[in-house]
Amino acid sequence: MKRIALLTSGGDAPGMNTAIWATMKLCAARGIDVVGVERGYDGLIDGEFRPLTRTTDSGSLAPVAGIDWLAGTGGTFLGSSRSARFETTEGRAEASRRLVEAQIDGLVVIGGNGSLTGAHLLANEGPTAIVGIPASIDNDVGGTTIAVGVDTALNTIINAIDNIADTARSHHRAFILEVMGRRSGYLAMAAAAAATADAALVPEDPKTEAEILDHLEGLLRRSFTAERAKQRVIIIKAEGVEVPCTRLARVLSERVADMPNVDVRAAVLGHIVRGGRPTYRDRMVAGRLALGAMTALLRGHTDVMAAWNARKGVATADANITFVDLEEMLAETTAMLDGSSELVRGRMKLMQEVQGVLAF
Ligand code: F6P
Repeated sequence: MKRIALLTSGGDAPGMNTAIWATMKLCAARGIDVVGVERGYDGLIDGEFRPLTRTTDSGSLAPVAGIDWLAGTGGTFLGSSRSARFETTEGRAEASRRLVEAQIDGLVVIGGNGSLTGAHLLANEGPTAIVGIPASIDNDVGGTTIAVGVDTALNTIINAIDNIADTARSHHRAFILEVMGRRSGYLAMAAAAAATADAALVPEDPKTEAEILDHLEGLLRRSFTAERAKQRVIIIKAEGVEVPCTRLARVLSERVADMPNVDVRAAVLGHIVRGGRPTYRDRMVAGRLALGAMTALLRGHTDVMAAWNARKGVATADANITFVDLEEMLAETTAMLDGSSELVRGRMKLMQEVQGVLAF
């Protein structure tokens, strides 16, 4: 293994830069040349490579100069894309040709389930070894208990909930706060529990708009009675629950118009949750997954993902890291998204117990 390429793809996640930095340093220390691919799979198809290691005067490899800030920053400095061209066989054939032309022996793909689906196809259609690192704030990548970026996103969300709670308490208000998570309610569930919100609305527990409104109206009426006397009600709605939170807030306000001094407001956190400096935990997980990915390539693996606490896959010297086949990862992701996975069922069971306590 003489030269490794790195690319980030799909929605950026805090810790992607840490994974790039760690791979770069680990490879340089072992004399492996590293190049970055700009703009994800689109950049790969267009052959947009940039060196990430350089040969020093003494002949050893070192990271390129001027990017010492990288590991502690959010976003991805290589850029990212959601590439429609890469979804075609022609696009992937061109990507493979570019890798061969640039004499790349192994490619590390850092991204979420869409990006790792692409990695699986590329591994099977071309000659280059491909290894994935799960990175997506949504935590919807199968075969790993956590993806890079989730911890930072959760910390951003709970800070936002704490801030909203300050103003909500002051005005005796209910807030419906929407957080990202296209098809996954993980961020909403985990943040609601950690920040002691009063309810979480998630796509894994599908409800009609009328059912949601009935549930929330009941919650507001119970919470703001003289007996319970809550000072605020915070409802965390996952993006994947399609009713807009502004509509929920408007209709709820009308429904509780008879309750004096009760106001309902809405806020959408949106992309704020995707940015920010990675937390210690995201940096630690990203660094160890990067070591796992490099080790996988050095041991001759391809079409695998370095996974965190997966309790399956090929063991490594790091007890938390295993290599899980991308095919298995994809099957588990499908089951997570259609609700048939044991993991999601377990999370929902736990959430149902938590919901009762949150509402209390
Ligand atoms: O996949 C991560 C994610 O942030 C989702 O939570 C969200 O639905 C989506 O990306 C937004 O994508 P974009 O930035 O392309 O609008």
